[in-house]
Amino acid sequence: MNFENVLIEKKDSLAIITINRPSKLNALNKLTIEELHRAFKTLEEDNLVKVIVVTGSGEKAFVAGADISEFANFNVNQGTELAREGHELLFNFVQNLNTPVIAAINGFALGGGLELAMAAHFRVASTNAKMGLPEVSLGVIPGYGGTQRLPQLVGKGKAMEMIMTATMISAEEAKEYGLVNYVVEFEELLPLCEKLASKIARNSSIAIAAAIEAINANYTNCVNGYSVEIEQFGVSFGTEDFKEGTTAFLEKRKPNFN
Ligand code: COA
Repeated sequence: MNFENVLIEKKDSLAIITINRPSKLNALNKLTIEELHRAFKTLEEDNLVKVIVVTGSGEKAFVAGADISEFANFNVNQGTELAREGHELLFNFVQNLNTPVIAAINGFALGGGLELAMAAHFRVASTNAKMGLPEVSLGVIPGYGGTQRLPQLVGKGKAMEMIMTATMISAEEAKEYGLVNYVVEFEELLPLCEKLASKIARNSSIAIAAAIEAINANYTNCVNGYSVEIEQFGVSFGTEDFKEGTTAFLEKRKPNFN
């Protein structure tokens, strides 16, 4: 795959996507969003990839937001289209992937950067990370899912405060809020993600994909998460992985999933 702003590295069943535009603090311009879409899509289609980690290049930023220089002159229609296209190509796309995605937040995760991290299935941060949705300081609102996913993760009150004040929170505060699962030293960030990925990779990919769908359903309007859970629970019973997982348990051995 040939990209200008995205790097992909594979380590066994783990793939690491690095957003690589450090001179602009990895800000998401149109090209980067398109490249990320292609990168995630290609890795999702690769059966050997069991977990994807997304991170930013350098020690300063995960992603410092959508590229302000690209949309500063947009009108209402262009603004609407920007958000709609972003949702489709990247943010909803990542949330709904069957392959688990971990965001490794290695520095500033602001605006679209935090929104990308929130679209991932869960988040890990380094101690130097800073997170926020500063859009209202630019006279706009979060447009890549931030108004929906932030309250889901931190609760309505904290989300209101973060969005209204447009201020950044530290990695430790983010952990306290439930926005990130772990905070570790910068050097430990990718090793921890690799450890988590190897735990995930031991489990049934089919069951994980079904769990992602069921968990996400609770956060999708007009879809009853409990119904999707019941449906996906039943579907699991028809899979080879379910047979192997339960048989292995009963035979007191480790399962061998494909
Ligand atoms: N869009 C476009 N360019 C961005 C950017 C963004 N969201 N964030 C950073 N950059 C660019 C800067 O313009 C600068 O480019 P230049 O060297 O060509 O002038 C470069 O990245 C480095 O950023 P700089 O502001 O000089 O770094 P800093 O250490 O002084 O400040 C931040 C870091 C993150 C506090 C600051 O860059 C910032 O506030 N960025 C915007 C955050 C934001 O509002 N995001 C939401 C967008 S909706």
